[in-house]
Amino acid sequence: MAKAIVSPLLERGEYNPENVLGIVGKSSSIEPALNDLPKAVKVVSSEDSFSREIWNAPLKILAVKPQQFSKIKELDSIFQSKDDFPKPLLISVLAGITLKSLNKAFPGHTCVRAVPNAPSLVSQGLTGLAWDDDITLDQKKVVRKIFEPISEIYELEEQKLDPFLALTSSGPAYLALVVEAMADGAVAAGLPRQLSNQLAHKTLSGTASLLREKSLHPAEVKDMVASPAGTTISALRHLELAGLRSALIEAIVLAAQKSRQLAEEISS
Ligand SMILES: NC(=O)c1ccc[n+]([C@@H]2O[C@H](COP(=O)([O-])OP(=O)(O)OC[C@H]3O[C@@H](n4cnc5c(N)ncnc54)[C@H](OP(=O)(O)O)[C@@H]3O)[C@@H](O)[C@H]2O)c1
Repeated sequence: MAKAIVSPLLERGEYNPENVLGIVGKSSSIEPALNDLPKAVKVVSSEDSFSREIWNAPLKILAVKPQQFSKIKELDSIFQSKDDFPKPLLISVLAGITLKSLNKAFPGHTCVRAVPNAPSLVSQGLTGLAWDDDITLDQKKVVRKIFEPISEIYELEEQKLDPFLALTSSGPAYLALVVEAMADGAVAAGLPRQLSNQLAHKTLSGTASLLREKSLHPAEVKDMVASPAGTTISALRHLELAGLRSALIEAIVLAAQKSRQLAEEISS
């Protein structure tokens, strides 16, 4: 995720590669991390003593797994609260790590929580942002500029990031499941596998474009496709009986609850 964020910024010349430094966990990860990045970018492992200097950079993007955050918390002694204005900026993309936990781990920093999603990898993402109250207008601009090349940006109150994540970050997994199941259905009904996979995913992207470009409500698309006593309404009747809509509603509520629960576990 860190690379997906940094690469387009380097491609656009927003940052000088010589000023971009990275830390990975293991030294074996350095080479894959550098792959496709400009030569001047430097990456070291967390064991390397130079990593302490990198941790003192004025702008940091934290993109470890949430389970690896406990290791990062141990670094708090290297950050001394100074009277710098503006304070160094720490942007975290970790699911479920609250601004309160980030402030504890990064004393003297202005902290930002960013929730990007997987389509950011193809520059079609959505990013939710919540920040500390002391963030300056210029710092907000810096943060927006980081996520703009890969995503649309939504500024939210922190507690809204849980449902935002449940819909947008987990959403690609729900939709991938639906696409896979639709392709399975076509195979069961007699189409070849490869063609079914291709048609299922093109049906998804075509429907998304139809909704967006004609500004339609989802119900309008459903009504447009379902003719009286036809094939679609028989299938929809079955999906209602099987509880597809209710299953998706509950799935998103559960994902939001889980995100809150993880945040409580990590901060306790
Ligand atoms: N993937 C997504 O779609 C997505 C979307 C939104 C948010 N996120 C968030 O993005 C974060 C990263 O996800 P990812 O899929 O990019 O994970 P990832 O590929 O496993 O990347 C994590 C990176 O952190 C490094 N790391 C581990 N311990 C470290 C330490 N002590 N010091 C410095 N670096 C360390 C890892 O290096 P090693 O491999 O050497 O350990 C690895 O390069 C997660 O918190 C996730 O919640 C991901």
